[in-house]
Amino acid sequence: MDNAGMKKGIALKDDWPGYSLDLFSYPEHYHEDIESVYIPHGIIMNRVERLAHYIMDDFADNNNIMVLCVLKGGYKFCADLVEFIKVLGRNSNKYLETRVEFIRLKSYLVGAWHNNDQSTEQLQIIGSGDLSFLRGKSVLIVEAIVDTGKTMKALLKHVETFEPKMVKVAGLLVKRVPNMAESLTDYVGFEIPNHFVVGYALDYNEYFRDLNHLCVISKTGKMKYKV
Ligand code: HPA
Ligand code: MG
Repeated sequence: MDNAGMKKGIALKDDWPGYSLDLFSYPEHYHEDIESVYIPHGIIMNRVERLAHYIMDDFADNNNIMVLCVLKGGYKFCADLVEFIKVLGRNSNKYLETRVEFIRLKSYLVGAWHNNDQSTEQLQIIGSGDLSFLRGKSVLIVEAIVDTGKTMKALLKHVETFEPKMVKVAGLLVKRVPNMAESLTDYVGFEIPNHFVVGYALDYNEYFRDLNHLCVISKTGKMKYKV
């Protein structure tokens, strides 16, 4: 079966308001700070498991995967994805050796650090600047959010300079923005409207990473954690 369409993510409609907070449990300290549960943790986990299946199929001819996790937002997605890849390998006797490396990308707006929820202009890659261990390897870049793709394009360009055998991109969320970069992302968890979401390691000024569901932040939350 051709899975190509399914790899492009579950599309959430523009008018999807999320689930009422009363229906789920979440950390009490955030109860005024979130508006709704946009994607419950259980659904995220099931979708991540499915992405692990696609990845296992596409990387089947390689016996290892070099996973490049984009911090900080990608850490939960990456950890869960790698765990599912391990479980699937164990259950099918087709183990894929996985190695995980971490990088951070800093985006900033001409000179000034940019801390709230605006999208940004410049990019700097921090962490494993030397990615020469990627040479000849099959690489999976794991990123929480891809929107315009500017950041991902810059990262892909950097990774390609180390001459890997193949590079695929897994994005938990792809945002529907003008000029969205869907084609850059090989495995998409969810395609969402251009909303700011938090939870599952996605932050607002470092808050909300300890929330398991993906949630919509409230006006109170935005005010409270503004810097
Ligand atoms: N949430 C958290 N961080 C982000 C987002 C978002 O929706 N978009 C870009 N960085
Ligand atoms: Mg952030």
